[in-house]
Amino acid sequence: MDRIQLDYTNLMASVIGDEHGISEAEFEALAGPAAKALAAVRARRDEDLRWLALPYAEDVLEEILRYSARVAGRFENVVVLGIGGSALGNTALHTALNSPYHNEHPPGGLPRLYVLDNVDPDLLGEWIEHFDVSKTLFNVISKSGGTAETMSQFLIFRDLLVEKLGPEGHREHIVVTTDVEQGILREIVGREGYESFVVPDGVGGRFSVLSPVGLLPSALVGIDARQLLSGAQDMDQRCETSLLTENPAMTYAVLQWLMQSSCSKPVAVTFSYSDRCKNLGDWYAQLLAESIGKRHDRKGAEVFAGPTPVRAVGVTDQHSQVQLYVEGPFDKWFTLLAVEACDHVVPIPMGYPELEGTSYLGGRKLADLFAAERDGTRIALTEAGRPNCTLTFPRVDAHSVGQYLFLMELAVAVMGELYSVDAFDQPGVEAGKVAAYALMGRAGYESRRAEIEQASQSAPRTV
Ligand code: PA5
Repeated sequence: MDRIQLDYTNLMASVIGDEHGISEAEFEALAGPAAKALAAVRARRDEDLRWLALPYAEDVLEEILRYSARVAGRFENVVVLGIGGSALGNTALHTALNSPYHNEHPPGGLPRLYVLDNVDPDLLGEWIEHFDVSKTLFNVISKSGGTAETMSQFLIFRDLLVEKLGPEGHREHIVVTTDVEQGILREIVGREGYESFVVPDGVGGRFSVLSPVGLLPSALVGIDARQLLSGAQDMDQRCETSLLTENPAMTYAVLQWLMQSSCSKPVAVTFSYSDRCKNLGDWYAQLLAESIGKRHDRKGAEVFAGPTPVRAVGVTDQHSQVQLYVEGPFDKWFTLLAVEACDHVVPIPMGYPELEGTSYLGGRKLADLFAAERDGTRIALTEAGRPNCTLTFPRVDAHSVGQYLFLMELAVAVMGELYSVDAFDQPGVEAGKVAAYALMGRAGYESRRAEIEQASQSAPRTV
């Protein structure tokens, strides 16, 4: 099997019980609405949902590969400056597809990768103390080209580069990924002549991982960007059918919708039984939360919709979260990420054949224990009436990760239709951005600042 596979047996009422599971009738009743939802999403492919076409953007891939080949061997570090959809995919891809020790032991002249997706002075300050900007390529990524966090990072690192390499020499250390014409970052590209890539129209931040946003840093650190796209194409083609039981994206969207609407499970846990896939859970958390978490539905009615995404890692969280998952409130459903074949075979030595407490481990492989723990958790959840499904990756490679990314993007778009919310805007995020601009004294935001100051007059209660 080189396709990822979704097993949702343990979400069904026949297995998990009527109170917490989905009945056949409920599932079947969604076949029509889900097909309609898929058609509505796909109809926008050439209009405002251009991310649907990203897996086929061969010319963009070629451009990225040419640039990567040109700069190969020139930098010790690649630093992504970006946040949200401009960062999470990169962290997820790097964790999934490079060695966990890549940065300590970069293979064959490849650069290290750092994704600095925060403006905590201790994060940036430490990086600046430990690394040499003159050996670093900075990929500044911002769809809007004006996000305060990313722009402040850019200003900081540009200044350091200019100080060290001069106004001319610093330029080859910056490559920008942003909108083709909008935003201050694009204006700066024009002024400075930086190399740049485009986040196409119709590709929002959290749907941009298969654009240059995710492909460029990937190619720079040795990830097979072509295979990522090939996996996404495979999933796209698998999801062409409007038959619910054969379309993984429709199925996953319907399961999410039913889990929340009829089974009262507002919390969606992605439980990765793969250390390498753990940050796919973070990437998905943003995709789900920003897309479906909405105050208003499409007609403008207040709905306060949205599941709460949670991310857990097996086996680590068996010794942290699983107690709650098995015995706590019945407010969660689980997607286990499983991997059929790990890259490494690590035998467990016998050590002490006479000691029963360790001899059952000796002679087995670490993968056997990992699988037993995963299956043990699945059994414990199921027996406790906790609905769970499993997404199995044949291996963690660029092809399967590409499948996963596209599957989840399409599923979330279909969810938007089922929840009847706009899955592609983020007014809640914008509200925070505007408040931050006002507090930083940005021109044009004076009245918002006055409102905030007025509202913060109540007596503080601190202890
Ligand atoms: O998904 C989104 O649109 C957001 O999370 C953005 O990615 C995030 O706010 C960063 O925005 P930008 O890429 O415009 O800097």
